[in-house]
Amino acid sequence: MSLILLKTFHYLAILFAGGLLVGGGLIQAVYARDNQVPDINIAKILKTLGYLGLAALIILWITGILLSNLIYGGFSINSAFTVKIIAAAILLIISFIVNIHVYNSSKNNQPPNKSIMKIATMSGRGLIIVVLLAAAIAFS
Ligand code: HEM
Repeated sequence: MSLILLKTFHYLAILFAGGLLVGGGLIQAVYARDNQVPDINIAKILKTLGYLGLAALIILWITGILLSNLIYGGFSINSAFTVKIIAAAILLIISFIVNIHVYNSSKNNQPPNKSIMKIATMSGRGLIIVVLLAAAIAFS
């Protein structure tokens, strides 16, 4: 039963993290294309999307650690799984950095740095693909 619950939350968090990454990236891309800075309300939405994304990643880690221990008795599963957790760790670090950066810039009433946001969104997308591919290989 707990296995089913953990898996369900793991999958729900994947759905959330991916959706937020695509949605947030799309909003930013529209503003970047028009060379505009998001207005205050959009900036608030982007900030909230960032927090939710971080929360989803933390849920992925909690449920992932529990699943690894319950099903496989630890993290030594196979090389693809190692790649998966390394990519997931980088994703978590990037999400932390971006959230701190966005928090600090909104505190100073300044828009977030465009290059930091662009690099973070692009690497976030790439890393989530790497994690998914590695998960598919690891558990096939
Ligand atoms: C961005 C983060 C993550 C994503 C997108 C992700 C994605 C996935 C996906 C798609 C599966 C299903 C694979 C399958 O059953 O074929 C899965 C399963 C699993 N994940 Fe994650 N995961 C993430 C983070 C983590 C972390 C950090 C851990 C461990 C520390 C973890 C541990 C596991 C385990 C053990 C399973 C397999 C459960 C089973 O055998 O059915 N995941 N993950």
